Amino acid sequence: MAYNSVSDRSAEREWNSEVYHRLSSPQVSWGKKVLSRLKLNGDEWVLDAGCGTGLLTAELLEALPRGRVVGIDLSQNMLSTARAHLAQEFGSRLRLLACDLLSLPIKRVFHAVVSTAAFHWVPDHDQLFRNLHDVLVPGGCLEAQCGGGPNIARLRDRANVLATTPTFARYFVGFREPWLFEDAQEAAQRLRNAGFADVETSLEAAPTVLDDAAHYNEFVRNIVLRRHLENIPGAEQRDQFMAILTEQAAQDDPPFLLDYWRLNLRGRGA
Ligand SMILES: C[S@@+](CC[C@H](N)C(=O)[O-])C[C@H]1O[C@@H](n2cnc3c(N)ncnc32)[C@H](O)[C@@H]1O
Repeated sequence: MAYNSVSDRSAEREWNSEVYHRLSSPQVSWGKKVLSRLKLNGDEWVLDAGCGTGLLTAELLEALPRGRVVGIDLSQNMLSTARAHLAQEFGSRLRLLACDLLSLPIKRVFHAVVSTAAFHWVPDHDQLFRNLHDVLVPGGCLEAQCGGGPNIARLRDRANVLATTPTFARYFVGFREPWLFEDAQEAAQRLRNAGFADVETSLEAAPTVLDDAAHYNEFVRNIVLRRHLENIPGAEQRDQFMAILTEQAAQDDPPFLLDYWRLNLRGRGA
């Protein structure tokens, strides 16, 4: 039996949006810095690409009192949570759309595209950057950040080793990590190839210490390694997988550190 085959592909797209909404303070704090780099007049149309539960979409709307934001996401759970929190407050200034960033049906509409903590989940950055370039009006800007470079290298190594042990190996046959962590130079070249001008990219370390074993376990299980855990069919074995990783993180100095690295991306549409 191929445990790693996913009969319902929608499972790959879905997130536990309640947990993400509650635990995503690291992503929100990085995202706020990204938003602070945007130069806005307050009346622009902005795309939030991979908006998740909309915590940063709300910040963006606050900065656009006469503008509009379209939040796009692949996950219906994320969009439902975003809708529940934002629809009433922001009314017609906000549209939330279920859509794959790899097949965007929109052309030359937005003055800016913003994205935080999403692009590393998108496997084809050439297509992604071409699509984002094409949704911008000429001169519009991209201001984004995602995981990059050696992002979470320690946890990746540990999860990969664990996935090859006799208890878990059968669940990970043919499994490929779901992320694309580019370095700054590769990303800059892809942005230029997609048509962006004035490209700037950089990598920055963002080490993040979680509170304790329970916090680490819930965060890693639902956010970082959610696609790994989908491969393991039984709850007991999923718990065992996470218990081993959590115990390893408890031995680190400091304990429960995630070695996050963020890739900053900026460009101007031609
Ligand atoms: C870690 S969350 C980040 C959410 C939000 N931007 C934040 O910073 O809190 C990543 C989001 O990207 C979305 N995503 C991943 N791949 C996508 C794709 N191909 N098209 C649209 N959204 C995608 C996921 O569904 C998820 O909501």
